[in-house]
Amino acid sequence: MTTSTVPTENAGAERAASGRAISAPVRVAVIVGSIREDRFCPTPSNWMAEQARKRDDIEVDLIDLADYDLPVVLGGNDENAPQPESVTELSQRLAPADAFVVVTPIYNRSYPASLKNAIDWFYTEWQLKPVGFISYGGITGGLQSIDALRSVFTEFHSVPLRDSITFANFWETFDHDGRPVDTERTSRLANGFLNQLVWWAQTLRQARTERPYPFVESE
Ligand SMILES: Cc1cc2nc3c(=O)[nH]c(=O)nc-3n(C[C@H](O)[C@H](O)[C@H](O)COP(=O)(O)O)c2cc1C
Repeated sequence: MTTSTVPTENAGAERAASGRAISAPVRVAVIVGSIREDRFCPTPSNWMAEQARKRDDIEVDLIDLADYDLPVVLGGNDENAPQPESVTELSQRLAPADAFVVVTPIYNRSYPASLKNAIDWFYTEWQLKPVGFISYGGITGGLQSIDALRSVFTEFHSVPLRDSITFANFWETFDHDGRPVDTERTSRLANGFLNQLVWWAQTLRQARTERPYPFVESE
């Protein structure tokens, strides 16, 4: 017997039952990637969350990794070993998300260890979901962090967005109240970025519900 992966009539019923038709608001988790003391990261993260909250097609969850004392030593091979509480708590916020916005600085030409640690603690939470990136730094705007993160997220069969938002010489780009200096440009960028994120989030949410993803065994 073969298993069909073609959508069935049931799929529509399931979607109706789950109450989340394709156009229903998507849950976007904005992740504050730096946990350093005196960090800048909350500024662009709050800005993005604020942009997203203005829309009726997005429900925002602003997740600050500094609120989770994630161990740097990952779990062992015993699948029945209890998870650290902070891992369980963060999982409960990541799992319901339909999409992620990862906000990252650049540390020595890449993204910070806090972000890698958070990424590595989880797997299914990221799986088959779109991920958009915001970076900031000196002259490069932290683009190298985004390039590195794109590669990492493909491991989960996530969909890293092609377009991102970068703030070069970031200390010049926000005022003392945390508002972008160039509001016209940044609003336009945020709008285009979120349009794409929502498109992918709605599309993948529906696909995850209706059609099993054809995973293959790694060689
Ligand atoms: C460990 C470390 C490495 C850094 N490396 C770079 C770098 O390679 N390129 C760059 O433009 N800025 C670099 N910076 C400067 C950061 O862009 C700046 O400190 C920024 O505020 C970091 O983000 P955060 O404050 O949110 O942690 C580095 C900062 C730190 C702490």
